[in-house]
Amino acid sequence: MPAATGTNPIVDSVDRRLPSFDEDPDRDLVASMLSYTTPDCILINFACGPISLLEKVVCVAKADLREACCPFSGYTALHFAAEMGVEENVRWMLDHGSAWNGRDRLGNRAIDLARKEGHQECSKFLFEYAVEKEYARYYLPYTTPPDEWDNPVDKDRTPQVEGYFKSVVMYTSPQQTAHDFAMVDMGTGTGVMMEWERPLMKETARLLLEGLPKGVRILNVGFGLGIIDTYFQENCPSNHTIIEAHPNCIDFMRKTRWFGERNRHTERSPQLVSKVSREEIGRFDVVYFDTFAEGYRAYMEFYQYLPSLLSGPNARVSFFHGLGAHSLTVYEIYSEVISRHLYDVGLNVDWSECHIPPEVQWISYSEGVDGQNHPYKIPICRLAPTVRRTVVPDCGWRGDFEASPLSTKSVT
Ligand SMILES: C[S@@+](CC[C@H](N)C(=O)[O-])C[C@H]1O[C@@H](n2cnc3c(N)ncnc32)[C@H](O)[C@@H]1O
Repeated sequence: MPAATGTNPIVDSVDRRLPSFDEDPDRDLVASMLSYTTPDCILINFACGPISLLEKVVCVAKADLREACCPFSGYTALHFAAEMGVEENVRWMLDHGSAWNGRDRLGNRAIDLARKEGHQECSKFLFEYAVEKEYARYYLPYTTPPDEWDNPVDKDRTPQVEGYFKSVVMYTSPQQTAHDFAMVDMGTGTGVMMEWERPLMKETARLLLEGLPKGVRILNVGFGLGIIDTYFQENCPSNHTIIEAHPNCIDFMRKTRWFGERNRHTERSPQLVSKVSREEIGRFDVVYFDTFAEGYRAYMEFYQYLPSLLSGPNARVSFFHGLGAHSLTVYEIYSEVISRHLYDVGLNVDWSECHIPPEVQWISYSEGVDGQNHPYKIPICRLAPTVRRTVVPDCGWRGDFEASPLSTKSVT
């Protein structure tokens, strides 16, 4: 069939740029389809077709791998390929601009569909791709992501952090019961810390203190309701340092006699931790951090100080992990990203879980938000046995045993 040239400007432009029929049999097919439909439509219909055809539709006819989707299901080409387990196409699409985090009308990502259909290799590849991409992202300077499909959680948190520290925080029970006692940011109506999080704090404290003798040295960043600090007190710590920054929280600490008796700092971390020398703040057997409003980049800044805050190989670190928790898939991806970032600073992580019934969870004072129906993950980190680490320029630390060809220096 001859190419449908001369009738459609898109066809003309495609036709001029495609190789001749003898070299490429897909050329004619694409060109003729373009006489009655759009490149995006061809992409969606041939998402599981040959790569040679996808190349024409995407690279030449400029179909949009990110935006093109089925109007009924909201599936992008990546969704179709992942659901059918066509791994080669999935790889090609991700290499050419598909977003791993793109969602269909029901909120499913391509990886969710691959998992649902039991395509293990394909879902493993999608998982690893997302982990690698998100892992590398945080070693690069922050740039505003074009949209949420690029990255589900990396946002500029400066306005939230500034807003939080300027706003009034109240200790209150919205339902007038002890079970919903909470620390609420009155500026946004958001719960900063809620009583329903107690089981998570209790389990974290248990895991952190398990097997340790009485009288350990503990550092906690972020007092909130003081729930975890109450459990820490059961160890009769010889030093219990709390870093808290919000003035209303510090007032609450005074009223509840938490402030003043023990060794406390009231500046914002991680600035505080980086400012004071290790000798001044000391080393700890247990370090916990759970701040509010700050994004993951602030956590990463804090990671680098952790090894020098720990008393030795038996010391433990934990923190609240809510990164990407709105979806189990994204939560799992970020758990792996976190493990790798911590490994890069010399910490190994063991993960535990704590289930909290979704119906008791609330986040906003005013709006209903669905509770998380999968368990919370609790990281317990320890200093890793020393391995050779390398610095990758513009990327960060890689803990490979083999020196990277990109490395400028290596340390042990
Ligand atoms: C979620 S609450 C902590 C809850 C605590 N784990 C508990 O068991 O009750 C977060 C706390 O971190 C404090 N915070 C937020 N950013 C901080 C920072 N950069 N430095 C110190 N404290 C901070 C907040 O004011 C708040 O009191």
